[in-house]
Amino acid sequence: MKILILNGSPRAERSNTLRLANAFAEGFSQADIETVHVYKKNIKPCLGCFSCWTKTPGQCVIKDDMTELFAKIKSADVIIESFPLYFFGIPSGFKAFIDRCLPLMKTYLGSDDKDGTDSFHELRDASLREKKLVLISTCGYVNAAPMYPALLKQFDMICGDGNYTAILCSEGELFGYEGLAERQKRGYLADVTKAGAEFYENGKLSAETLQKLEKPVLSPSGFEKIVRSHWGGEDFPQI
Ligand SMILES: Cc1cc2nc3c(=O)[nH]c(=O)nc-3n(C[C@H](O)[C@H](O)[C@H](O)COP(=O)(O)O)c2cc1C
Repeated sequence: MKILILNGSPRAERSNTLRLANAFAEGFSQADIETVHVYKKNIKPCLGCFSCWTKTPGQCVIKDDMTELFAKIKSADVIIESFPLYFFGIPSGFKAFIDRCLPLMKTYLGSDDKDGTDSFHELRDASLREKKLVLISTCGYVNAAPMYPALLKQFDMICGDGNYTAILCSEGELFGYEGLAERQKRGYLADVTKAGAEFYENGKLSAETLQKLEKPVLSPSGFEKIVRSHWGGEDFPQI
């Protein structure tokens, strides 16, 4: 089984979210894991020229690192999109990657047959449907539930309801720094690895597992200590 982790954090290797994605992938007992730091790739914004739907169906006219990424997507069985929440949505560099996925979608010819479950745009290559998509995201708020409705709605529209799995985690800063709340952090990461094993076995996660992972790890006062310590520490001397 091939797992492709698309790391959509500008913090690249230092990403809080990537810790979770790595922990999840560890749960797959037999898998080749490849990580792409999307922000380190040369991915130009979509030009909106629609060549990929008209003159060169399925092919983008821009020649950059997306060619390499399309090949990796094609050969992966599980694609993990790992990114932080930015203004209740997708960080801009990763959104550029998503926009550039338009060649994967069939040319829209004006029909109005949306049935409420499928993606708005059918995939050009039906074999892409067999791949599993997992979103893993952290946010900086103490509670994930009120932060993610807009992002989830967007992915429901892009992929079709239920065609992806989303692991959403509050208190992302907890994962970026060593030495604070280590026991709770390790406990949570161990649960994420267990979820990876469950996904490896069943190809999906139970509602119970998803709910467990969405619960805040620390109390608001415990998280405040982490935030104050790291934003008031050496990296941010003015706070
Ligand atoms: C520009 C920007 C926008 C953000 N917007 C949100 C937000 O809407 N809600 C939230 O809870 N956290 C927000 N955050 C916090 C990040 O989601 C959080 O720090 C995350 O853990 C960073 O993960 P990373 O290290 O993987 O990049 C934002 C951070 C930045 C820099």
